Amino acid sequence: MNLFEKILSHHGIDPIPEPGTPIRLPIDQTLTQDATGTMACLQFEALGIDKVKADLAVSYVDHNTLQSGFYNFDDHRFLRTIAAKYGMVFSEPGNGICHQLNVERFGVPGRTLLGSDSHTPTGGGIGMVAIGAGGLDVAMAMAGEPFTLPMPEVVSVHLTGQLPAWVAAKDVILEVLRRETVKGGVGKVYEYTGPGAATLSVTERATITNMGAELGATTSLFSSDDNTLAFLRAQGREDVWTRLEPDADAKYSRVIEIDLSKLVPLAACPHMPDLVKEVRELEGTQVDQVVIGSCTNSSYKDLATVAAMVRGKRIPPEVSLVIAPGSRQVLTMLADSGEFTDLIKAGARIMECACGPCIGMGQAPPSGGVTVRTMNRNFKGRCGTKDAGAYLVSPETAAATALAGKFADPRDLGDAPRISLPEIYPTQEAGIVYPPEDGSGVEILRGPNIKPLPLGKAVGRKVSGEVLLKLPDNITTDDIMPAGTHILSFRSNIPEISKYVFSLVDEGFSARAKEKQGGFIVAGENYGQGSSREHAALAPMHLGIRGVIAASFARIHRANLINFGILPLIFADPKALDDVSQGDVLTLENALENILEKDSFDLKNAATGKTIPVRIDLNPFERQVLSAGGKLNWYRAQQN
Ligand code: F3S
Repeated sequence: MNLFEKILSHHGIDPIPEPGTPIRLPIDQTLTQDATGTMACLQFEALGIDKVKADLAVSYVDHNTLQSGFYNFDDHRFLRTIAAKYGMVFSEPGNGICHQLNVERFGVPGRTLLGSDSHTPTGGGIGMVAIGAGGLDVAMAMAGEPFTLPMPEVVSVHLTGQLPAWVAAKDVILEVLRRETVKGGVGKVYEYTGPGAATLSVTERATITNMGAELGATTSLFSSDDNTLAFLRAQGREDVWTRLEPDADAKYSRVIEIDLSKLVPLAACPHMPDLVKEVRELEGTQVDQVVIGSCTNSSYKDLATVAAMVRGKRIPPEVSLVIAPGSRQVLTMLADSGEFTDLIKAGARIMECACGPCIGMGQAPPSGGVTVRTMNRNFKGRCGTKDAGAYLVSPETAAATALAGKFADPRDLGDAPRISLPEIYPTQEAGIVYPPEDGSGVEILRGPNIKPLPLGKAVGRKVSGEVLLKLPDNITTDDIMPAGTHILSFRSNIPEISKYVFSLVDEGFSARAKEKQGGFIVAGENYGQGSSREHAALAPMHLGIRGVIAASFARIHRANLINFGILPLIFADPKALDDVSQGDVLTLENALENILEKDSFDLKNAATGKTIPVRIDLNPFERQVLSAGGKLNWYRAQQN
C-alpha cells in the first residue's frame, strides 16, 4: 500500500476502492478560519447538537484581522464565544496563520484533517491526510459526519539527491507546478517519496504540500519519519508521533522523478502559479515590493534565513520589504535570537502574524507595479492591485531581490547562511484559548451583523420559476458573489450579502429574484469556476433560486449547489440554451421522483411550449441531500 491508502485503511476504508468511487472518510480534526469559519460555525449551530464530536476542532482568526469597523471584531468575539460553547479550540487574531499553527500545535501523523480553507493540505507535511472543503462540510465533520469524496488517484513524486545551497522547498513545488500545471492535480493525491524526501524538514515539506492546492490536488502527503519526530519533539509533542511510510512495493498511478540536486531558484510569473521560469531569466527586472510570509513560507527557518541575508545591510528605498511571521512562536523565536532586530534595521516593515498581504489585506503593491512574494497564489488582483504583476518565489530569492531592488538569483551571494534550528521551540499558551469542560452556560455574543442561517426548500411535487438571468460560459464564483472588503464584511449576514449576488453582471438581479420569489439561472459551460466560496450557492439559495441549468459545472461549485439544495441541471443538448430566454417560466413536474430516481428528465417552457431535456449526475447520497433541500435539512431529518 502507499501511505494514503494506509491512512484510509486505518480509518476503516478497506478494501481500497478504484479511483472515482465515492468514499466516506471519517474526520479526526477540523480547522476553520474566520473568513469561512463564521458561516461554518453558524452551520454547526444549525445542526442542533450540543458539542463538537470530532477529536479536535480549531477555530482560527487569521484572514480579516484589521479592525477598522465593528464587523471583524464582532465576528472574532462571536467565534471566541461559540468555540467555548461547543468545545472548539480558539486561536486569537494575531496568533498566526491557521496552517502554520496547525502544523506546530495540533497536527498528528496518520490522522485526518478537514479544513474550510483550500490550503488545508499543508498538514500533509506532518503526515496527515489533510483536505480543504466548504464550510458546511467542515461543520458536518465537527458533528462527527464523514466527508464524502471520490477516491483519488495517488501519484508518487519520487525525490532523489539533496537541495543545493540557495535552492529551497518552494523551488521543489514550483518545479512540480511547472510540470503538472494548475489543472494537473485534479482528482489526485501527490505522495512525496524517495531518499530526497527524507532530507527535508517538516516545515519544508509543509511548503510543498501547501502549494499542492495550486495543482488542484485533493491533497499531498509526506511520510512521518525521524525528521517528523524531531519536529514534534521540539514542539513538546513527541507523544503523538508514529512512524508512517508507504510499503516498499507500494503502487502508484504514476511516478514523477525529481533530482533535488539539479533544481535551481524558480519563480511563478504573473498571473498563474504554473507560469514558472528560472530566476536567472528574470534577473534585472525592477521590483517595487517584496513580501515574505503567508501559510506557504513563514516558518522560523524561512524568516531566520531572510534575517541572516539582510543583517547589516539596507533595503534600497525604492523597494518596500514586508514581513509577516507565520505564528507567535516564529515571532518569539526571531525576537529572542535578535533576528527581529536585523530585519528592522535593514528597513523591513513588520506585519502582524496573519494572512494580511496574501489576500490584499494591506500592503497592496503600487499601480502597474511588480511585487515579489513568497505566497502561493498570484492571480490577477489577489494582491490588492489589479494591474500589478505578482511573482511567487522562495524566501531566499525574495531576500536577494529585496537587497538588489531587482530580480536577483541568490546563488550569486556567496555562501548560504547556516540556520541552526533550536532543539526545543518556545511553545506558549498566549493566543490559544481552550474550551471549558462544560460550555453549556456560555452565552454566544453576536453583533448586529451576525444573522441566523437561512435553510433551503425541500423538493416537492413540482419545481417552477422564471429564468431570472441568462449567462455565457465560464461564469466564476466572483461573478456570482463578488468579494471585496466591503461585501466580505457581510459574510455572516446572508440577507445583506444576498443583495450583491450578480451585482457586477446585472445590478437588478437581487431585487428581481426577491420580487419573483426565486427561479432559475441559465448558463453555458463551466458555471461556477474559481474559488470555492460557498456564499455563491448560499446567497442564491436565500434569494429562492431553485436550479441552475448549464452546459457544464465546475466541480466544487456543483457540490456547493447540492449542499444548499439548488438543482445543478445540465442541458442534454447544449443547443437547447438557445430555446430559453430571460423571463421564460420553466417547470419540472414530478420533481421529487425525478431527483430521487432519474438521471434525465424534461423541463417545460411555458413561454415557447417546448420541452427542454436536462440531465442530473448525482450519487445516491447527493440525491438524498438535494431532495431534502440541502445538507443541513438532510442532517436534521436524520437526527429526527
Ligand atoms: Fe492565509 Fe493566504 Fe494562506 S490568505 S491561509 S496566507 S493562502
